[in-house]
Amino acid sequence: MFYSRVGENYDSRSSTRSATGRPITTLTVGNTEVLAGYLAELLNCPTYKLEAAAPYPESYDETVARNVRELNEDARPVISNPLTSLEGYSTVLIGCPVWAQGAPRIIRTFIDANDFRGITVAPFVTYAVSGIGSVPREYQQACRGADRITDGLAINGENVRGSLDQAADWLGRMGLL
Ligand SMILES: Cc1cc2nc3c(=O)[nH]c(=O)nc-3n(C[C@H](O)[C@H](O)[C@H](O)COP(=O)(O)O)c2cc1C
Repeated sequence: MFYSRVGENYDSRSSTRSATGRPITTLTVGNTEVLAGYLAELLNCPTYKLEAAAPYPESYDETVARNVRELNEDARPVISNPLTSLEGYSTVLIGCPVWAQGAPRIIRTFIDANDFRGITVAPFVTYAVSGIGSVPREYQQACRGADRITDGLAINGENVRGSLDQAADWLGRMGLL
């Protein structure tokens, strides 16, 4: 499963600047969605894309501001297409962009709604500069009862198109392929 956002996002190669001066590009398919597609292709497994009931803004700066508010409030943003049973699955790959060095709060909504007993959780992220940050640590704490949290896969969002080999390599190393 994964969350990924379309719209303005960080891209160091771009000459376009957001109101706060960050280099941005407009994505029509989110970076994490591209990576999730590679992983699903390699594993031949179903995918589930979280959608926010109140979609995040198109604007990069406004999304950053909303995420700060949600972190301060320890929010659980509502998922419009909830999935509340992992029955039948022994491994769940959880994918997201890195937001403020962690997972977007909506991932926590998903985690809280599910029972991870006996499940292996494999984290994958895309990021701009900071790498995987606190994401695996957050899952360690939040996915109560999980069998194990594997090492994560972290791909720079700017290079995600073309990361199929890295995705395959990670799945192999985690014993998932
Ligand atoms: C609200 C917000 C916060 C972000 N915070 C970080 C961060 O702390 N570190 C980082 O490397 N990238 C950060 N980014 C950049 C995204 O992680 C990166 O562009 C990612 O590939 C976007 O994935 P997506 O297209 O699937 O949403 C942030 C982006 C947004 C919108």
